[in-house]
Amino acid sequence: MRILIIGGNGTIGQPVTEHFKKSNEVIIAGRSSDEIKIDIADSASIKSGLDKLKKLDAIICIAGEAKWADFNELSEEDYYIGLKSKLMG
Ligand SMILES: NC(=O)c1ccc[n+]([C@@H]2O[C@H](COP(=O)([O-])OP(=O)(O)OC[C@H]3O[C@@H](n4cnc5c(N)ncnc54)[C@H](OP(=O)(O)O)[C@@H]3O)[C@@H](O)[C@H]2O)c1
Repeated sequence: MRILIIGGNGTIGQPVTEHFKKSNEVIIAGRSSDEIKIDIADSASIKSGLDKLKKLDAIICIAGEAKWADFNELSEEDYYIGLKSKLMG
């Protein structure tokens, strides 16, 4: 299979990438990836990245940001970081 792994260079992404590389073609995407640059918080970036790739069999996303702090310290804007990245991405 031809698999795109967004966040494949991350802490969780690295072992996942190693696993799938054993018997698949794996392409890694991320904001600073050397292979395909995709920012999941930016829909234009997702479209542009996917347009550069030929047919894919699967996409795995192990990326996303969130602000972590005590509940009372989080602002409305802080929640939008995770919503835009993890949910919308
Ligand atoms: N590690 C944990 O124990 C744990 C626990 C619970 C949940 N999670 C969640 O699991 C996900 C992965 O965690 P991790 O520890 O592996 O994180 P990590 O080590 O920071 O790696 C995140 C990876 O995702 C990419 N990435 C981050 N934001 C991106 C974006 N907007 N668009 C595209 N790629 C993006 C990063 O590459 P670039 O910087 O090049 O974009 C990086 O390769 C995160 O959403 C995290 O919140 C992790």
